Amino acid sequence: MTRKPIIVGNWKMNNDLHETRALLSDIHDRLASKSAQVDVGVAPPATFLAVAGEILADDLILLAAQNVHYADSGAFTGEVSPRMLKSLGVDLVIVGHSERRHYFAETDELVNRKVKAALSVGLVAIVCVGETLEEREAGQTLEKVSTQVRGAFDGLSAQQASTIVLAYEPVWAIGTGRTATPEQAQEVHRALRDLLTELYDAPTADAIRIQYGGSVKPHNAESLLSQPDIDGALVGGASLKGDAFEAIVNAALSNA
Ligand code: PGA
Repeated sequence: MTRKPIIVGNWKMNNDLHETRALLSDIHDRLASKSAQVDVGVAPPATFLAVAGEILADDLILLAAQNVHYADSGAFTGEVSPRMLKSLGVDLVIVGHSERRHYFAETDELVNRKVKAALSVGLVAIVCVGETLEEREAGQTLEKVSTQVRGAFDGLSAQQASTIVLAYEPVWAIGTGRTATPEQAQEVHRALRDLLTELYDAPTADAIRIQYGGSVKPHNAESLLSQPDIDGALVGGASLKGDAFEAIVNAALSNA
């Protein structure tokens, strides 16, 4: 099965309004014409999603949120609901990023509630999983990511599961300049697809796109994206520069 590659830039908590507008326009200019072959998305901070929705209104570059609450509305000071995101033209939402899990104590159960809430309004969830360095060195990588996937997908039908984008992001590779080798990443991606086959069935597991994330840069993107079970990338630092992000999208294109 050929899966359409998906490259998403996670901008995290960077840039002010002016810088955000400029980067959005730059990325649109560079990459909108490639949207037929590669899904390209950007995830600005929540406060800029409205303006991003206007700049990206033609929907050639997908708009992603970095986080979402699980409730539709209510007394949750500081939070943003799935329905609010949907009304801004948001297409995707990152759920369970390791920084959310680490700094904001997000559990697998909370991730699961957020995934279900996102799906209920038609948002595509990008579900992040990954092991710490300690866990990798203790030989617990597959156990850790399997537990996270089982938690995130709990109660989802095969049809719902097939819409999810899974992101394997080893915590030790995020923002460190240290990338998993293509072989290390492929091994985990293959194991994740086997787990999805066990949880659902082969066609569902085949349909789910699995991104790699963690220090993806122009120089390593091609070797990672050429692996059979790596269907895209979730890019942090390198997505804040139009030329670097374009180079990563081009690497996906050459494998598409
Ligand atoms: P990085 O971040 O590319 O800066 O390592 C990746 C991520 O956190 O999604």
